[in-house]
Amino acid sequence: MAIKKRELMEMIFKPTNIGNITLENRIIRSATYEGMSNEQGISTEEYLNTYTRLAKNNIGAIITGFAYISKGGRAMQPKQAGIDDDSKIDVFQSMTDKVHSQNGRIFMQIAHCGRQTTEQATGSVVRGASTKRSSYFGSLPKQLSTEEALSIIEKFADAAKRCKKAGFDGVQIHAAHGYLIHQFILPSINSRKDIYGVDPEKGIGLHFLKSIIERTKEKCGKDFPILIKVSSGDDYFNGFKRNQFIQLIRFLDEMKVDAIEVSYGTMDHALGIFRGEKVPLDVVLEYNPKYKTNNSIVRFLRKNAFYPFMKPRIKMFSPMYNLAYAKIAKQHTQIPIICVGGFRTKQEMSDALEKKETDFISLCRPFICEPDLIKKLKANNAYKSKCLNCNICAVMCDSPNPTKCYFGEAV
Ligand SMILES: Cc1cc2nc3c(=O)[nH]c(=O)nc-3n(C[C@H](O)[C@H](O)[C@H](O)COP(=O)(O)O)c2cc1C
Repeated sequence: MAIKKRELMEMIFKPTNIGNITLENRIIRSATYEGMSNEQGISTEEYLNTYTRLAKNNIGAIITGFAYISKGGRAMQPKQAGIDDDSKIDVFQSMTDKVHSQNGRIFMQIAHCGRQTTEQATGSVVRGASTKRSSYFGSLPKQLSTEEALSIIEKFADAAKRCKKAGFDGVQIHAAHGYLIHQFILPSINSRKDIYGVDPEKGIGLHFLKSIIERTKEKCGKDFPILIKVSSGDDYFNGFKRNQFIQLIRFLDEMKVDAIEVSYGTMDHALGIFRGEKVPLDVVLEYNPKYKTNNSIVRFLRKNAFYPFMKPRIKMFSPMYNLAYAKIAKQHTQIPIICVGGFRTKQEMSDALEKKETDFISLCRPFICEPDLIKKLKANNAYKSKCLNCNICAVMCDSPNPTKCYFGEAV
């Protein structure tokens, strides 16, 4: 009982609201691609069991992996879930029922990949905010016409409505990591001259996201929580600056969204998003669609010439690597801020919350590694996640395997 009282006093375990939803504690499972859906994007039994298990483990809230809102917005990961069709509502409903029966909270992350995909995955020409090509994905995108952009806005709102019907506690709109909404935000990508172009005063493109939020509120009602995931910076030559990030936060403040998750980067430099202690080169050369090869000479050159050249530009792991930006965000809004990236010890989480540097802590890899992490944090103030930031889980998203921790396993 004494322990229970002490726990209740800790910020980390204090029930807190996001919109009208009460979370049992301030720890969130950040969106994590599952690789547990079939080719039609219909989630499988494994998907249902994964979320039921997470809910049993007392996580404040769970955010699903990115689910596509339309076929044209599919990722190249082969087993991504989709929320693009009403026929999928029932399957998700059975999952959210299970999560709620465990007193869990669950938000669906909804996304459109824009230029960060392939024609093979979408079955159609890759579309983007502009014709600028992603250095990693390579396809030359066709710029969405104004009418097509409008249609995607509707598809986001329709997807959110499906989430509501399926019993999700809210949605997270993916406006980070270089996906379509982020492509509209970034002036380095958005060269449009129509209404969805970059606002000359603010220096970023906000109209597309603004319309998505407005239409989602219209279709789902103002009480249905909307979370937004944003990137605080990127690794492009003329990168996203602090002032542009502040403009983005002020805009979201005006839009009265329910929470903002602060992440980093784009998939062009994915290792800036999920930083590691080192790069799992052999796994990359085996599984990554861009770098894999059976040719031993090419493999040798990639490992011994290309990689050493790239290495200085790769951002390596440091604890709580997005916290500085979460702190900036908190200076510009009262909306709850969720910080993701590199939280590994209870001490780090408690300190960041106690100092009001963030309102929630979000974790991805630690929950892949230990779904029961909350219990361990409750039991031991000195607890440190077992995740080694090896990033094999991240690289393996390109394989047909479901997402899991590969620690100690031959891949
Ligand atoms: C295997 C894996 C899958 C991920 N899937 C998603 C995703 O679907 N949507 C998303 O916004 N971020 C995704 N991320 C990024 C995480 O949500 C998170 O921002 C990042 O891993 C940093 O948090 P961490 O240090 O706690 O892992 C993924 C990361 C990993 C490693």
